Amino acid sequence: MRSVLQTDEIRIDSWLSEAEERCLANDVLDGLTRPFKELAPKHFYDARGSELFEQICELPEYYPTRAETEILTSCAPEIVRRTGAGELVELGCGATDKARLLLDAMDHAGTLCRYVPLDVSESVVEEAARELVESYDGLKVYGVIGDFERHLERIPPGAGSARLIALLGGTIGNFPPGTRRALLRKIGALLGPRDRLLLGTDLVKDPAIIEAAYDDREGITAEFNRNVLHVINRELDADFSPHGFDHVAYYDRRHEWVEMRLRAIRPCSVLIADLGLRVEFAAGEELRTEISAKFTRPRLEADFEAAGLALDRWFTDEQQRFAVSLASRAEA
Ligand code: SAH
Ligand code: AVI
Repeated sequence: MRSVLQTDEIRIDSWLSEAEERCLANDVLDGLTRPFKELAPKHFYDARGSELFEQICELPEYYPTRAETEILTSCAPEIVRRTGAGELVELGCGATDKARLLLDAMDHAGTLCRYVPLDVSESVVEEAARELVESYDGLKVYGVIGDFERHLERIPPGAGSARLIALLGGTIGNFPPGTRRALLRKIGALLGPRDRLLLGTDLVKDPAIIEAAYDDREGITAEFNRNVLHVINRELDADFSPHGFDHVAYYDRRHEWVEMRLRAIRPCSVLIADLGLRVEFAAGEELRTEISAKFTRPRLEADFEAAGLALDRWFTDEQQRFAVSLASRAEA
């Protein structure tokens, strides 16, 4: 563990080290030597990737952030009233806008005590901590820089009040079904009897709306997608030409998820020097960089049941584009 920051109000620990580079190295070795090339979406998020994601959230086509914000704006007070929560643990926190809606509700209810952001991106945890202690008197922030697939046990024990453990933005949809259920089970294991999971999920809808959200006219999502190649170039001394790859977003109706891919415009041979690995791409060959699953209420209930969780409340925006669920550990 590396201590990143320690003040009266803020403590930030990082659990990412050289091992993190090895994790990227293992994923690249495994994912780029398969017949169908693939990489995990968590590798998008260096400082530049996090910044591009924030720009995506502002795009007219990218509705999920606005829809989820609409839900939290109207429902945060009810969520806090029902749970009595005074602590927010936010997995994959990103920017602070949504956390603020929940923290404001806790503040108004007089329960607010601590915010625990966890993210692989060091820059977002630090920014969130610094901004929020300025905004809320007496708030303690315990930041964890880590991978929520590997470092959930690094989340500090509860500070006394009921906790909300939030995974917002539809991030759970970035995991394939089996991994998704395993992750929900691990998160569920953190929930005490009074604690609740707060989960944001994008909903199934007209594929044209979804595809536009992942292929915006300004090309920001395309840059976000190509950012993973910049990350590999920098971290593993590789020589990808990011603009030699087209951004592809398409909705798979059978699986009800949208996929992002990078398609080689012409044949190319890429050297990943740190791995001593040469990877060949044929013209038109694709590398899958993300899936983003879209949900229905029955599908989410089935995932919860398989993960030992139970749905308590389901909130949607007026246009039913997105859902925020409150869930608890199912009785044994
Ligand atoms: N929750 C925010 C951000 C969503 S973007 C919102 O709703 O807008 C996804 C966030 O999760 C990014 O900040 C990214 O850095 C983080 N992330 C992705 N995979 C992660 C992982 N495996 N462990 C920890 N953080 C992760
Ligand atoms: C973080 N995650 C939920 C986003 C999504 O919509 O799947 C990432 C993203 N990919 C393209 N645009 C946004």
